[in-house]
Amino acid sequence: MTAVKIGLIGYGTVGSAVGRTIRSHQANLQAIFGKEVQVAGVLVREKQKYEQQVTDALLTDDAAELFSISDLDVIIEASVGIEPAFSYLTEAIHHGCHIITANKELIASRGAELKRLAKKKGVRLEYEAAVAGGVPVIGTLKQLLHINHVVKVEAILNGTSNFILTEMSDKGLPFEEALQLAQEAGFAEADPANDVDGWDAFYKLMVLSDLLFEAQPDWEKVTRKGIRSVSSQDIQAAGEQGWKIKHVATLENAGGEVTASVEPVILSAAHPLYSVDGVDNAVCVEGDLVGKLKLQGPGAGALPTASAIVEDLANLVHQRKEIEVKRVIKFTEKREAVPFVHL
Ligand code: HSE
Repeated sequence: MTAVKIGLIGYGTVGSAVGRTIRSHQANLQAIFGKEVQVAGVLVREKQKYEQQVTDALLTDDAAELFSISDLDVIIEASVGIEPAFSYLTEAIHHGCHIITANKELIASRGAELKRLAKKKGVRLEYEAAVAGGVPVIGTLKQLLHINHVVKVEAILNGTSNFILTEMSDKGLPFEEALQLAQEAGFAEADPANDVDGWDAFYKLMVLSDLLFEAQPDWEKVTRKGIRSVSSQDIQAAGEQGWKIKHVATLENAGGEVTASVEPVILSAAHPLYSVDGVDNAVCVEGDLVGKLKLQGPGAGALPTASAIVEDLANLVHQRKEIEVKRVIKFTEKREAVPFVHL
């Protein structure tokens, strides 16, 4: 009986946690797949950096070497940026590998192409970890979309920004100190500008837009602001009124026109995102049948993200029905204005 063979791309905070989780939860995975689940190869940029850590799999900086592993079943991609990830995943799909990725920039930018290619080649493309870390947002929304019509999403999608704003508010820490704590905890991206300038939340919102509406707004028309402009004084002044400043991503679909924004906003205590603190992310959606839902949990960090990836891996065992159902989205009445004031 051969093993389920995995090729891992990237061995940073997330990639290495995936490797550890596959080892620590091997018994569960074996029970699901009926055979060993093995990281057979690890592709990194700088091989020397990981020689001590990767001892039981092929460690390489050459993609061709990774793809030369015989009978590779799955590629798990935990790197950042569009290239070379897009080229690697395209090649992996051509090799017949299922794909699991945590790369939100890639899925936001080239996800539609990858989905089409994966479908054509009969392999799966899963990306739960790309949005809201360990919170099962993608799976839950996919489950809601069969019947419900979703017209609006309000969300906190960047754990680092939420952590920084919470530390500034609760402990009075300056921005730089709170950012450093987020980096030490492994929440922040390699380049934290992606987090604090709103790019990370923006990409995640575009992934949700694709999923919910099969469309994205014109990126140039999306308001994208990070949290650098929020001062300790702003936070304190909001707190004195019983308000909080949160970094909120909003997506709306009015009659087929998708609009989006990512920016710091002042929330009153009545808003469902008001109580979302620390590294948590939350996604509030309203479906015409189900009503209002809020999904909340750890939005960043090694283990929550590895959890989403390894759950995607386990879910590969369930084959999707191949019956193609065209989803019809009806856009109903215009919703009430959101109960907060933009800064
Ligand atoms: N840097 C990201 C965040 C990691 O802080 O939310 C999870 O995508």
